[in-house]
Amino acid sequence: MNLILRKEWLAPDIALMEVEAPRIEKRWLAGQFIIIRPGAHSERIPLTIVDSNAERQSITMVVQAIGKTTRETAALDAGAHIADLVGPLGEPARIGSGARVLCMGGGVGVAELLPVARAFRAHGNHVVALCGARTDAYRILDGELRKAAGDLKWATDDGSYGFHGNVLQLLRGMAQPGDFDEGHVIGPIPMMKAVADATRDWGMKLHASLNPVMIDGTGMCGGCRVTVGGEVRFACVDGPEFDAHLVDFDEMARRNRAYREHEKTILDKHACRLGLSQ
Ligand code: FAD
Ligand code: FES
Ligand code: MG
Repeated sequence: MNLILRKEWLAPDIALMEVEAPRIEKRWLAGQFIIIRPGAHSERIPLTIVDSNAERQSITMVVQAIGKTTRETAALDAGAHIADLVGPLGEPARIGSGARVLCMGGGVGVAELLPVARAFRAHGNHVVALCGARTDAYRILDGELRKAAGDLKWATDDGSYGFHGNVLQLLRGMAQPGDFDEGHVIGPIPMMKAVADATRDWGMKLHASLNPVMIDGTGMCGGCRVTVGGEVRFACVDGPEFDAHLVDFDEMARRNRAYREHEKTILDKHACRLGLSQ
């Protein structure tokens, strides 16, 4: 059981939670994640480790309430416990030094971008962050990202803050082939695919942090199978970060959609039971 020390709403359905986790706090690196079960009868879901605090022996995660288990998680308040929490899982992000690095994040992916951008900066890279949100109300971790990156630009779908459009359009408007040596992208699958396609001939390495369905997080169940450069890889143990220019994003999108009907039924049933103390 892990005690929730702090919970804050960053956006209408995005919660930040600081959780006691002394052993993970000491060992985690940018790009790694945890698998949690919010309640004793919940399914397991993966969440990125966003930050940590040595004094409070805690880690921070950011969760967007989109389905039954993320809603159950986001509904927990400070003082409650997470039934179980395992980590740090996955390989850390690859962080080189002395390069011009472009960090791109969309939606709740912006939370994963924060520790990666910080790590790039700490290793002496020049970091530019491009972040996307639906509207101004959905921009998250702005202050933290401004400190982590040398330069931060926002795009919003409705133009309510920063550039009017998406991260890909922002990228096209501000960067040319040759401007950057490396990139990191995290967000919805269509966004990662579009950024990978647009930068294929730019001569820069682009790493994508993938978000396939994960169940055990230990390479045993096969749920997170992805194809990278024609080879089968398991995102929970071989990733979640891979060479974005080699990822089969179409297959990943198909696999992530596989349980949509079931997920909708479960969510509807959960919504029906709210108010019945269940
Ligand atoms: P459901 O209604 O069950 O599913 C909604 C959609 O979420 C599905 O269609 C599917 O595409 C995806 N999904 C469902 N189950 C899983 C699963 N077990 N694993 C992965 N994706 C799933 N979300 C955050 O809000 N914050 C994070 O920091 C974050 N980090 C992630 C890190 C990794 C390595 C991965 C793989 C995913 C991460 N996610 C994160 C996504 C998060 O795990 C899913 O949104 C969550 O599992 C959905 O569960 P649900 O029951 O609420 O939704
Ligand atoms: Fe089971 Fe990766 S989550 S193999
Ligand atoms: Mg679910």
